[in-house]
Amino acid sequence: MSFETREPEALTESEAADELARLAALLAEANLAYHAKDAPEISDAEYDRLKRRNAAIEARFPHLKRADSPADQVGAAPAEGFGKVRHSVRMLSLANAFDDADIADFDKGIRRYLGLADTDALIYTSEPKIDGLSLSLRYEDGELVQAATRGDGAIGENVTENARTIADIPHRLEGAPAVLEVRGEVYMSHDDFGALNEAQTARGGKRFANPRNAAAGSLRQLDPEITRSRPLRFFAYAWGELSAPLAETQLGAIERLAALGFQTNPLTRRCADVAEMVAHYRRIEEGRATLGYDIDGVVYKVDSLALQERLGFRSTTPRWAIAHKFPAELAWTRLVAIDIQVGRTGALSPVARLQPVTVGGVVVSNATLHNEDYIAGFDSKGAPIRADADGTPKDIRVGDWVQVYRAGDVIPKVADVDISRRDAGAEMFQFPVHCPECGSDAIREPGDSVRRCSGGLICPAQAVEKLKHFVSRAAFDIDGLGAKQVEQFHADGWIREPADIFTLRERYGTGMQQLKNREGWGEKSASNLFDAIDARREIALSRLIFGLGVRHVGEQASALIARHYGSWTAFDAAMLAAEPCDGPAWEDLIGIDGVGPVMAKSLVSAMNQPAERESLARLVAQLDVQDAERPQVADSPVADKTIVFTGSLEKMTRAEAKARAEALGAKVSGSVSAKTDIVVAGPGAGSKEKKARELGVTILDEDEWLDLIEG
Ligand code: IVH
Repeated sequence: MSFETREPEALTESEAADELARLAALLAEANLAYHAKDAPEISDAEYDRLKRRNAAIEARFPHLKRADSPADQVGAAPAEGFGKVRHSVRMLSLANAFDDADIADFDKGIRRYLGLADTDALIYTSEPKIDGLSLSLRYEDGELVQAATRGDGAIGENVTENARTIADIPHRLEGAPAVLEVRGEVYMSHDDFGALNEAQTARGGKRFANPRNAAAGSLRQLDPEITRSRPLRFFAYAWGELSAPLAETQLGAIERLAALGFQTNPLTRRCADVAEMVAHYRRIEEGRATLGYDIDGVVYKVDSLALQERLGFRSTTPRWAIAHKFPAELAWTRLVAIDIQVGRTGALSPVARLQPVTVGGVVVSNATLHNEDYIAGFDSKGAPIRADADGTPKDIRVGDWVQVYRAGDVIPKVADVDISRRDAGAEMFQFPVHCPECGSDAIREPGDSVRRCSGGLICPAQAVEKLKHFVSRAAFDIDGLGAKQVEQFHADGWIREPADIFTLRERYGTGMQQLKNREGWGEKSASNLFDAIDARREIALSRLIFGLGVRHVGEQASALIARHYGSWTAFDAAMLAAEPCDGPAWEDLIGIDGVGPVMAKSLVSAMNQPAERESLARLVAQLDVQDAERPQVADSPVADKTIVFTGSLEKMTRAEAKARAEALGAKVSGSVSAKTDIVVAGPGAGSKEKKARELGVTILDEDEWLDLIEG
């Protein structure tokens, strides 16, 4: 019997050395075949067996372990990843402001919402916006029991063990509320970032592009010991679930968190008005370079927690806070080419391919050029942009030197062009009038700045982009099925429309041979994918509506529409009934606050196209669409009622009244119809009140309404 088939225990030392060499070569070859050549030569089971054999021999003869030991190579199976955590209170983001006027508007909007006069006192806090990643720490009876990343705001990743390794995060609190969720930012200082990158280089590892990436990469390590070795820090600035209030004001709450042992930002101040807020912003901006960590703006918050409560939230951001961002960083580089991408609604978008350049710590090689007018030097109203002294606009040509900028997380943009450096032979860019993907006419409707492919379903680019949108985070969000996989499956003809995703297992799942033989797929990841797809058969109505990718219908509007109709059946029937864009069903649709005629038209026409309907029917047959979630309002007298506010209100503003009604599970509509349950009519109510009277709808004045909802 040759040593190659003998049990590890039966090998002599020299046989073991030979066997380890043989295994290293075999596994290296298998890895190469699997990952690089897309042609696996051995089965997953055999691969695993060889790895186990290698490990057993190394365990017996540790000194024989090779420098190129397969044990240290990344295996074929992808990392298991972190567990998921549902946040008890959603983790939101912040609305952005870019100049002083935006801050004045923010203040005005809040005063309007609360019904405050310009002269009424209104205090804000102002503090640096830390450029890291947000983390929620849950303490129960003073013990740290869970740490979770933001994720999509509703569900994050469980990184508890890693968070415990961060020195700024206390494991125990004295005198804290029984339930306390502390939220804040994990970040890395400039010094620590520099040292980490030096160490990475020394050991041949990859360097991080900026401190934020380094912080994110360090926190999201599957091995907490790696996180421990990275110098992460944490600032507390907010909270989630609480069993008892922390204080009456934002600043009071932050001071309480500091007293409990958290690091809080020393540049946090109270400001009495917009002028003080902006002055503090300037001070922070001036000191930015010497702070020692990255910040990307200043956050203002209404100081009174009672007012924060009244102001509440929009779908993803609080009304009581805003981020005043620092101006974008700029860099000059060469425009190598202009490519045209076709989006899911057929829009032809020009993309600048750039000579790579570093902008604000990140290497940029692509930027958006918006549309053909922008390239030619005109804004959406036809006025010249980037004009020289005599008003002639500067167009952008391939080969030009262009100025690129990044603002926040958004895609880089091209701001300016340096004509003095233009090559003599440079020609004006000719925007295509045919779709570069399917050759159909690309048409520009009057009044639209965008040229669109008219190919519809026959255009492969539109189909792929629709599918990518369908699986995106705010839509079906299927683990393991991202843009890259969708492209691959579409190219191979495995998925042509959304419904096909849900029949993948049926068509290709048996033995999983086909899927697992492809690049990047192993037995485990293939089976995980099918499971992740199955898990998404049960889907929220709002996600389904958003996932359809109808032009103008975004995430927020989808949520409003889902809440309004409640179920797929009701929504689908209403879209059919609204087809003439007139009549009660149409009125009902545009009556939804937040849905205008343009969006409504786009939705109704998409939902009435025969091919689209057939494709949708195939999809819905695969799904279990969940009725829209309403706030938990078991004892609310207005749950599921449709309310219309008209005339002026005196105790609160229209916006606040609407938000309160919605929080109590009511639907607020802008127009009166037979479906309206209650019209709240203040002084000056006109035609809506009249119509309600004709239809026999209950009419309440403001006091009667408040009695009803306040019991
Ligand atoms: S308050 C409910 N304060 O910025 C609002 N956020 O762009 C809670 N951030 O998701 C956020 N510094 O990760 C707040 N001083 C600060 C912040 C801050 C950084 C992050 C946070 C948030 C993101 C929004």
